[in-house]
Amino acid sequence: MPRLTTRFTQMLGIEHPVMQEGLGPYKTVALAAAVSNAGGLGTVSIPGISEEPRAGAAKLRGYIDAACAMTTKPFAVNIPVGTDKHGNVPAFSSAYVQAVVDAVKDSEVAKRLRVITTSAGAPAAARRMIEGSGLIHIHKVGGTRQAQRAEADGVDMIIASGYEAGGHTHARPVHTFVLGPSVTEAVSIPVILAGGVRDGRGLAAALSMGAEAVALGTRFVASHDNPDWHPNYAARILAAREGDDTLFQALYGPSRILPSRAIDELHEFESRPGITEEALTRFKDERLIAAQRDGDMQGGILPCGQIAGALAELIHVAQFVPGMVREAIAVIQELQARVVSRHVQRQ
Ligand SMILES: Cc1cc2nc3c(=O)[nH]c(=O)nc-3n(C[C@H](O)[C@H](O)[C@H](O)COP(=O)(O)O)c2cc1C
Repeated sequence: MPRLTTRFTQMLGIEHPVMQEGLGPYKTVALAAAVSNAGGLGTVSIPGISEEPRAGAAKLRGYIDAACAMTTKPFAVNIPVGTDKHGNVPAFSSAYVQAVVDAVKDSEVAKRLRVITTSAGAPAAARRMIEGSGLIHIHKVGGTRQAQRAEADGVDMIIASGYEAGGHTHARPVHTFVLGPSVTEAVSIPVILAGGVRDGRGLAAALSMGAEAVALGTRFVASHDNPDWHPNYAARILAAREGDDTLFQALYGPSRILPSRAIDELHEFESRPGITEEALTRFKDERLIAAQRDGDMQGGILPCGQIAGALAELIHVAQFVPGMVREAIAVIQELQARVVSRHVQRQ
């Protein structure tokens, strides 16, 4: 099997420059293990955004132990660390980061749980907790200045995520094609490109923009290897057409979703007098989990990237991850033969 070796694969000691990103707020233990077993980097997601912090941390530790039982390869945990609309970091963030830092004190866990990804805000406070733990810290950004600040804060790698991505996206839209070259020029640490990546062609494009890997969300949801989620979710993604996606105000700002009745119900709930920030977060958490765990496609909230409109079938992760690499290599070679050799020689 041909390989694409990058600083991403070398720093993590894995085969392929392909990552499955955090897909909270329910559970992606089996999916993360499947992606890591396929030679990529799988990510365990947080169990909820309205859990009492100690109970949430214990649940996350259970997820980490379950993932360790399903793979011997490196995997990641994702923790959103952003602020809500009042500028407060929700209590769950530091409890979850601490749970990850504590988990890798166990040497058996530390062999597998090699990476923490933070997202949705600035990484500095989490960075101070992570430093010295031995974890590789990857931080997700949606803009070039955020990438530079995260590098200055000491993170090890950047995920640059374009506006077309599923889930939390930018208040000021910057698309993957714009963001990729800007971020890879602006920082010297490895960059992983996310948002709208579908297959090996996206990987080849990301490499051409100076990225060292790609991270996918929506594509991995629509797979045979995500048994923790109700199959309705993947079916809904496959049924989506180009342009079906929309935005709603999630915990940290706009989030890309497929429309459902839940958004009207959210607006009605929000307009009731005396609704607290906590009650609103609980509402969103419950509706996100209702979609992922229970398959409620109307009462649930459905984060989903624009790429859904281009997806036609469920994938098998074990074939898909190495297949992406094979396709990326074929694309690069084909471009060399078809475009460069013919066009450049003719001139
Ligand atoms: C269902 C769903 C849930 C998500 N949950 C999270 C999350 O908990 N934390 C996070 O950082 N990003 C989350 N995201 C964003 C993904 O990590 C990733 O950045 C995005 O899906 C990449 O774009 P793509 O969907 O076009 O591949 C979520 C995305 C989806 C589709």
